[in-house]
Amino acid sequence: MKIAITGGLGFIGQHLTRRLVSEGHDVLLIDSLSPQIHGELPVVNSPNGATVVRMDICHIADRYELIEGVDVIFHLAAETGTAQSMYQMSHYTRVNCEGTTALLEAIAKCTKRPKKIVLASSRSVYGEGAYTPSHHPGPIVTAAARTREALDDCRWEPVDETGRPLTPVGTPENFPFAPGSIYAATKAAQELLLLSSSIALGMRATIFRFQNVYGEGQSLLNPYTGIISIFFNRARQGLRIPVYEDGLESRDFVHINDVVATLATSLEATLPNGLIMNVGSGIPTSVSQLADTLLKVSGFDVPIQVTGQYRLGDIRHCFADLTQLTKHLGFTPNMSLEDGLKGFCAWAMTQPVHEDRSAKAEAELKERGLTN
Ligand SMILES: NC(=O)c1ccc[n+]([C@@H]2O[C@H](COP(=O)([O-])OP(=O)(O)OC[C@H]3O[C@@H](n4cnc5c(N)ncnc54)[C@H](O)[C@@H]3O)[C@@H](O)[C@H]2O)c1
Repeated sequence: MKIAITGGLGFIGQHLTRRLVSEGHDVLLIDSLSPQIHGELPVVNSPNGATVVRMDICHIADRYELIEGVDVIFHLAAETGTAQSMYQMSHYTRVNCEGTTALLEAIAKCTKRPKKIVLASSRSVYGEGAYTPSHHPGPIVTAAARTREALDDCRWEPVDETGRPLTPVGTPENFPFAPGSIYAATKAAQELLLLSSSIALGMRATIFRFQNVYGEGQSLLNPYTGIISIFFNRARQGLRIPVYEDGLESRDFVHINDVVATLATSLEATLPNGLIMNVGSGIPTSVSQLADTLLKVSGFDVPIQVTGQYRLGDIRHCFADLTQLTKHLGFTPNMSLEDGLKGFCAWAMTQPVHEDRSAKAEAELKERGLTN
């Protein structure tokens, strides 16, 4: 097949490209090589056999001939920093939303349009994940976003409207949107833009909502996203690992190999138009537990400091309900966090040491009143 991947030189895109090229597909990568991810003087490591076009996705409608005759598009190009999106609002909206509409316009201009488009969306569209009342487990409920007052009082766990405790459960795809950041809102908008135009454009749309993807090849440069890279980079330089809140906030970490296997499997599958599937490990891991496992696997000996700090817009818990993924693709991610981190650390140790810029990123948030 002829396949185009926007954002194809990013973390997920590079892995996906290697897989698709090795399966004999003809792959075109469209990527702006954003300096925040690739550095000011990027080195293009495009997997053998893939064609690379460096361009801003927002300009693709003027170059629609690039995707003429392509069978499938994976739309991965995006800005991805949740906290950064809270002050670079126009930029995030431009790249993620206008980038998507530009891509749709380019498709509309083609005489031979793709049959399938796959969007890399995010669990962030849910905001807080799903919960059930702790006193009466059963029905799934939504938790209100945590207020600044609650966070200032270290009341970290979301509660129901009467203040009673809630227990996190796997979040299903029919859980309502409640984006808690501009990034999350743009991912929700990307989904809606795709769903509202796929029939008119004669394509089948598939949407994957990724949880926290990690693994070999993820940017070690970007201080705005990628908790595992940030922790690794600090520990490698003998710096303490700061853990927000009380460290018991949790995330669902899914290894890149599982994500790529999911995307590659979806290529061959006949799926209903507009199908949305979560992609995660389905297992919640607290941030303290993550830091412990990372230190154990890497052998670095630095203190973990639970700081009691918070970032507005951060959620407390969210992990994937994998029922849809298993049902439609017959695939369930299975890389354990410890095994995945072993691979990540072995790779990261071969990379240059990068100056830790996470303190600078945090100072930017503080300046804007987005953290305490
Ligand atoms: N990695 C995760 O944990 C995760 C989780 C949920 C969703 N996602 C989504 O998956 C997709 C890929 O994420 P990733 O982790 O590979 O991110 P990444 O930052 O490594 O890759 C994104 C790529 O997009 C490119 N890009 C940025 N702006 C662009 C523009 N204007 N025009 C063209 N290219 C541009 C960047 O240069 C980069 O190569 C994104 O859409 C992201 O929202 C990722």
